Amino acid sequence: MNQFINEVETPVWLQKLQWLSDPVSYLEKNYQKYGDMFTSKMLGGGIIISNPQVTQEIFTTQANNFDSGTTNGLLRNFLGSESVISLDGKPLKQRRKLLMPPFHGERLQTYSQLICDISHNLVNQRTKDKPFMMRPMMQELTLEIMIQIIFGLSEGKLYQQLKHLVAKWLEITGSSIMISFIFFRFLRKDWITWSPWVQMKQVRREICELLQTEIETRRNEGKLDGEDVLTLLLLARDEEGNPMTNTELQDELMTLFFAGVESTSASLTWAFYWTHKLPEIKEKLLQEIDNFEDNNDPMKIAKLPYLTAICQETIRKNPPAMFAFGRVAKYPVEIAGQQYPAKTTFSSCIYLTHHREDLYPNPKQFRPERFLERNYSPYEYFPFGGGNRRCIGYALAQLELKLALATIVRNYHLELAETKPVKPIRRTGGLAPERDIKMILRGPRSKSRTNISELVGT
Ligand code: HEM
Repeated sequence: MNQFINEVETPVWLQKLQWLSDPVSYLEKNYQKYGDMFTSKMLGGGIIISNPQVTQEIFTTQANNFDSGTTNGLLRNFLGSESVISLDGKPLKQRRKLLMPPFHGERLQTYSQLICDISHNLVNQRTKDKPFMMRPMMQELTLEIMIQIIFGLSEGKLYQQLKHLVAKWLEITGSSIMISFIFFRFLRKDWITWSPWVQMKQVRREICELLQTEIETRRNEGKLDGEDVLTLLLLARDEEGNPMTNTELQDELMTLFFAGVESTSASLTWAFYWTHKLPEIKEKLLQEIDNFEDNNDPMKIAKLPYLTAICQETIRKNPPAMFAFGRVAKYPVEIAGQQYPAKTTFSSCIYLTHHREDLYPNPKQFRPERFLERNYSPYEYFPFGGGNRRCIGYALAQLELKLALATIVRNYHLELAETKPVKPIRRTGGLAPERDIKMILRGPRSKSRTNISELVGT
């Protein structure tokens, strides 16, 4: 290993325990001790980076010198070996080219009203003055959005089955005990039938059966005139003119559920928590929305500066993914002027970079204004990773955050039903609020107009 990089000295077993029980303090303590690049045996001897210049090199000029890391190997257990996350090089490029269009550009416009409608419906179903849990509601929201976008379904047997099974699968994969099964291979035994590992695999099988049947039916019937993601993927051809196989389609749909639901619902839960915890922020947001003339056009609402800043700050302070995927050197590489052998893993740490005091003064404070005061580079702020692996759903996720938050705060009066601070904890390999966060619906909201320019400083 490079002589200039410090290695965490704590015994590996203790590091694993620290990492499993409290990943945030593991990262923060080692950053304080070793600085913005250190190696951790616990993460397979990889280098944990929170230096934007180094992240820039890895995401841009050196991107072709890396493959995906062991993290992605672990994810294969959940998503299957044909998922985009398992690919590298040309196959990765080709697959991303097929997957990107349904989540970008004009397609987003067609999803915007859907996001607003589902947000409305879900809050409408709550009982006035009775507490409800925000995280499960946000999971339902993001799951309904994904099922509609992927399959074009909003009701019926398949819709209900998928909603039930995918929610169950995500609950199992997100359970606090599951991470031990990911970390300790010896626990992953099929004969321990009660274990979440076996249950996860069983539910995964059931979902895959449904997916295979639907894929086959659509192929056989040849009814490919819908605008949903599955139709677009069934019609897509790679550069050689080949369609995706059934297994590729199945693993990709599992990936979209896995990647698209949990991270977005955790972010939304935080967004509601912070806007209701800090009344002055909610007030500013409401005044921005209420004073906006064109407030019936969701795509225009999504451009509002203070709303945007709140969503940026939410995933700055509480990034659902702690790291971008590990990048493993294919050959010996020179990074930041230092030599590293082939197979070295570089893990750009989103959490630590987003909490650098020099970039984000008072980083523990939730302060959306920082995003109105300065621009951050894509290596100082990268909640969606970067380079040739940047999150495929980044534009959709941001649209969901903005429109669900704007629709709900604009139309309903919600309150936090608990005062205890909420810490981030690990969930499904990422970070989520430690509790489901209790809120109360006080009723519909009546709107008022005030002078916006004073409030957002525009
Ligand atoms: C707030 C929500 C989200 C966050 C914070 C997030 C974050 C990330 C991050 C950090 C990566 C790794 C990128 C890298 O290593 O450079 C990633 C990959 C990915 N995300 Fe997201 N994501 C979110 C929502 C979504 C949604 C809604 C979808 C689905 C439409 C999605 C689909 C994917 C896929 C397919 C990959 C794998 C890309 C590849 O391997 O090339 N994500 N995401």
